[in-house]
Amino acid sequence: MSDRLESRAIVITGAAAGIGRATALRFAGERARIAAWDVSGVSADRLLGDVAERGGDGMFVTVDVADAAWVERATAATLERFGRIDVLVNNAGILRDAQLVKWKEDALVSTMSDDDWQAVIGVNLTGVFNCTRAVAPHMIRQRRGVILSASSVVGVYPNFGQTNYSAAKAGVIAMTRTWARELGRYGIRVNAVAPGFIETAMSASMPPKILQATIDRTPIGRIGRPEDVAEAYAWLASDAASFVHGAVLSVDGGLVPGT
Ligand code: NAI
Repeated sequence: MSDRLESRAIVITGAAAGIGRATALRFAGERARIAAWDVSGVSADRLLGDVAERGGDGMFVTVDVADAAWVERATAATLERFGRIDVLVNNAGILRDAQLVKWKEDALVSTMSDDDWQAVIGVNLTGVFNCTRAVAPHMIRQRRGVILSASSVVGVYPNFGQTNYSAAKAGVIAMTRTWARELGRYGIRVNAVAPGFIETAMSASMPPKILQATIDRTPIGRIGRPEDVAEAYAWLASDAASFVHGAVLSVDGGLVPGT
């Protein structure tokens, strides 16, 4: 493994589990400094132990990315410890699937609730906005930085039952392209990653039939691993990707939605 990211200060939101955890460990393997931000501190000690074991220097910050003031405090705590932030990985995300309107035998069964809409938009869209707005001024001062955000294959090909999630993930792509225009002049690169189905707690919450059907439509013939996405983040964060800007990198095994 190279040391392309050695000593870089990397913020990863939603780092306690799944893709975020794999990304923290991937960066730690290059001896980066990791600020693991997550709303849940349950597995913080194990994560920090694993980061240290791989050669990284880690800190854990409890933060709800949907809360702008909390994000500002997390940014201050990270800067106090590391003195700078070189890379922000906006990875935290949640699912709250429901049909917009569920209709059966000519009667209304249910609708997507206000809570389901607000919660997913709050974390997956506003959370990305909050973190980037808090961190970008420091990157501008440094005249250097990388901002990476989790979109999804669903942000490109919206999915049944995912009005909230699809809107948020499409919004992440729109924000990525806006920020590429606004921040490129300061030496800040901005890109998004669009994973297909990846084996984490999030995908485990989906009905097995839908999961299997998705794997069947994936030309590479398997579900993705968190490490597959971590590898994409590591490359995009490195100087090897210095001319990649405003891009949405698919990490989906060639999944062809809607077929
Ligand atoms: P996960 O559910 O395994 O882990 C998400 C992490 O985010 C957890 O540690 C959780 O505590 C944290 N989190 C949740 N709400 C938070 C908040 N308000 N503030 C801070 N942290 C919060 O999820 P997974 O599968 O690792 O997904 C990571 C990202 O990748 C998400 O943005 C997700 O939408 C995206 N993605 C995942 C796919 C999949 O198939 N697993 C496919 C496409 C995109």
